[in-house]
Amino acid sequence: MAYKICVIRGDGIGNDVIDAGLKLLSHIDIDFDYTYAEAGYECYLKNGTSIPQKTIEACRNADATFFGAVSSPPDIVDYKSAIVTLRKELDLFVNIRPIRSLPIEISRPNIDIVIMRENTEGMYKGIEREENGVAIAERHISEKASRRLAEFTYKYARDNKRKRVTIVHKANVLRKTCGLFRRTVLDVSKKYLDIETEEVIVDAMAMRLIKEPERFDVVITTNLFGDILSDEASQLVGGLGISPSGNIGEKTGIFEPVHGSAPKYAGKDIANPTATFLSAAMMLDFLGERMEGDRIRDSVFKTFSDGNKTKDLGGNLGTLAFTEAIINNLK
Ligand code: NAI
Ligand code: MG
Repeated sequence: MAYKICVIRGDGIGNDVIDAGLKLLSHIDIDFDYTYAEAGYECYLKNGTSIPQKTIEACRNADATFFGAVSSPPDIVDYKSAIVTLRKELDLFVNIRPIRSLPIEISRPNIDIVIMRENTEGMYKGIEREENGVAIAERHISEKASRRLAEFTYKYARDNKRKRVTIVHKANVLRKTCGLFRRTVLDVSKKYLDIETEEVIVDAMAMRLIKEPERFDVVITTNLFGDILSDEASQLVGGLGISPSGNIGEKTGIFEPVHGSAPKYAGKDIANPTATFLSAAMMLDFLGERMEGDRIRDSVFKTFSDGNKTKDLGGNLGTLAFTEAIINNLK
């Protein structure tokens, strides 16, 4: 039986990396039944919406969605981010962002962190208004979403033989919102005494990720903090070009590179497709095809070990040549 995959290229380098990703998947020994859907700024210009209902339904009905990147121009006031909307609409409650050392000079060694970012609420609830010259954003933290994320995180930690969960928050100032998040995660942690739990305040975490990234294992945090810390952490191991993610819900998931649409590189055979390849591997894991996911990860590792690199990592291969190298190294 073929897996039903919804493909959204999106904008900018989303097109380049998804084309590369589909080429790679055509060399994987699994059948995929692809549906193509539109989202993002190009889609907005064409259809008057960045995220058509048709696209939301296509993702909902798929086993998984393979997503490139979308542009979200800040100067259109009522513009909706397509990916943030999809995460909420499909109730994809966790965004898993692994950060692992790679065999490239720019990567620091011995890093193996998984950031579990709350993915449906927090500062990205999308409830903002202006009153008398004051712009107000509502930050929603619910017990339900925090608990669900915590249960997922601790189960993941146990299943993957992880030793420690670090709760990142700012409950010293955001006493109600971060307070509820912290309390709820700590409550769940009591069922997992085999896993060490610690707390780090978010600003100190930003510093400690640079100072001692090797000591962190699984990190659990709220939506905005997870967004910022994952971009920061990605640079420790090679940057946005290599950092994958998975948005996971009860029924389906969306797999996408952490990076955005980097418009200046679009269509120039420059974009690093590694983040997308590793996202495809996470999608295969999610579908229960971990062996095929490992084939991709092994090939990425071997390709880098052999000295092949795209320009963002100091190499000279374009998107297409690098993709060929990855395909040639598939075992
Ligand atoms: P970005 O992630 O698109 O690019 C930042 C910089 O990272 C680029 O200028 C480039 O130097 C580097 N970079 C990113 N991906 C790369 C790749 N695959 N290969 C080589 N270098 C890469 O972030 P930026 O410039 O802040 O945002 C551009 C647009 O993307 C905005 O409209 C923003 O809203 C959107 N965005 C979308 C996301 C998504 O679709 N999930 C996530 C982040 C931003
Ligand atoms: Mg981000």
